[in-house]
Amino acid sequence: MSEVKLKLILNGPLKAEGPVTVVHPDGREEKKESCYICRCGKSGNKPWCDGSHAKK
Ligand code: FES
Repeated sequence: MSEVKLKLILNGPLKAEGPVTVVHPDGREEKKESCYICRCGKSGNKPWCDGSHAKK
């Protein structure tokens, strides 16, 4: 059985350790071993974290 681990990074993204399948609003699926998901709303590459959360 596979297990997905979600790590909340302080003042940063959500790290998903998988394997995980990300389903986009258009139905497209992306399979990743791990990924960083933006949870600050500032990323220019949503849903992925692009480091913008750290910019002042
Ligand atoms: S959490 Fe990193 S850009 Fe949003």
